[in-house]
Amino acid sequence: MSLKKGHEVTLKIEGAAFKGKGIGKVDGMAVFVSGTMPGDEVRTRIIKRKKNFREGKLLEIVSPSPDRIKPVCQHANVCGGCSWQHVPYEKQLEYKTQQVTDHIRRIGGLDTPVLNALGSESELYYRNKMEYSVSSRRWLTEEEIKSEEFVDDSGFAAGLHAPGRFDKILNLNECHLQRTESFQILDFVRTYCLEHDIEPFNTFDKTGYLRHVMIRTVHHTEDFMVNLVTFKDEPETIKKLSNALLEAFPIITTILNNVNDQISPTSVGRFEHVVYGPGFIRDKIGDFEFKIHPNAFFQTNTAQAEKLYKIARDYAELEDGDVVYDLYCGVGTLSLFMSQKASKVVGIELVEVAVENAKFNAIENSVENVSFIKGDMKDVFTPEIVEEFGAPDVLITDPPRAGMHPDVVARLCELKVPRMVYVSCESSTMARDLKILSEVYDILEIQPVDMFPQTYHVEAVAKLRLKKNA
Ligand SMILES: C[S@@+](CC[C@H](N)C(=O)[O-])C[C@H]1O[C@@H](n2cnc3c(N)ncnc32)[C@H](O)[C@@H]1O
Repeated sequence: MSLKKGHEVTLKIEGAAFKGKGIGKVDGMAVFVSGTMPGDEVRTRIIKRKKNFREGKLLEIVSPSPDRIKPVCQHANVCGGCSWQHVPYEKQLEYKTQQVTDHIRRIGGLDTPVLNALGSESELYYRNKMEYSVSSRRWLTEEEIKSEEFVDDSGFAAGLHAPGRFDKILNLNECHLQRTESFQILDFVRTYCLEHDIEPFNTFDKTGYLRHVMIRTVHHTEDFMVNLVTFKDEPETIKKLSNALLEAFPIITTILNNVNDQISPTSVGRFEHVVYGPGFIRDKIGDFEFKIHPNAFFQTNTAQAEKLYKIARDYAELEDGDVVYDLYCGVGTLSLFMSQKASKVVGIELVEVAVENAKFNAIENSVENVSFIKGDMKDVFTPEIVEEFGAPDVLITDPPRAGMHPDVVARLCELKVPRMVYVSCESSTMARDLKILSEVYDILEIQPVDMFPQTYHVEAVAKLRLKKNA
């Protein structure tokens, strides 16, 4: 049977594949279906036809997997926030381990042991940052779309983007990703705006007022931030809304107003007002304290980040006096984490504000043996830099999803670093890079770490050692 677009088929889901989609086969052809899990029998309509696979839209679960559970959240199947709430947590960890293993074997061609994914203590409410969006256009429910009647999608929608839609917002009635006050605040803001004729932003007309409600909480202190992102600068409106928020939620320690009067849908305003409190919150990772401004990068699951960093540090087997390089260092969290035993740590990072934050964090924590260099890795991680700062005894690399540039991988092969640790948020690109690195380095062990329960994302840490004959 040649599966064409529009065909409807029933199939058994046999595995969990890339991006958390279930995979089954029809006459030997792989079919990927979102919202399914191994063991499900489903009816699906083919919506994408590629040479080696098809993609199907889930129409009906004919017979559910015995492992399937009822999602905690009513929005689970529609919202882009959580795609695996129907999968029990131990199964999520199993699939994540399997995903990393598959990539390492298939793409990397390596037989390195992959340990079981390290689970998060909190399966829900683990995020320390939520960026809810507000829009005058809401995402319709399946029933509304199927309805023969005209359905008005205008209004005041506050929640998360519908998957793949920049303009439509799923109007949330609940959310379980951040501590409970977080959704209560979003709900309060929505009601307040409706009662006080405060308009949501309209992406198409570029009119309206409120664009985002960002909430940042912390793990180790009592700080709590609300950042109201608006299209216009209206100090009186924001003051009144903030006062109402503070009265209803005494837990809030700071409120900011980022004014984004540009087209791009970002929470980073062209300018920012501190409406209440200090304008930042503080949290700790290990022994280090970080001042977190509304738009500064900070690991989203603090408790798991600590575990991830500890694994990286264990794999580094730091010795007194080591020279450590931290490639793709972000705001320098890992650099500081490594600095206690090292003689010096050199962090390299592309984004200027991240480098500024990293320098600031080092000063705030009285760490003097770290240096940060700004630039594109392939251009700045040069033999001259190594000459200037000294050859690395240990090198940590934590690139973005795309992995490392081939020139950087080649340089690491030439550099022959005794101990190396590769931290990755995308195991397929890590596997591609490790395949090349394995010509010079032994890839000893890989530990997947789950930073994002209820999603298919997984981090992985690899331990590398220079080959004896390299
Ligand atoms: C996964 S994050 C690493 C974060 C950091 N290690 C931490 O734990 O907080 C990847 C970092 O690589 C940076 N980056 C992306 N492309 C880069 C490039 N071409 N050169 C240097 N840094 C880059 C990003 O800005 C980001 O901070």
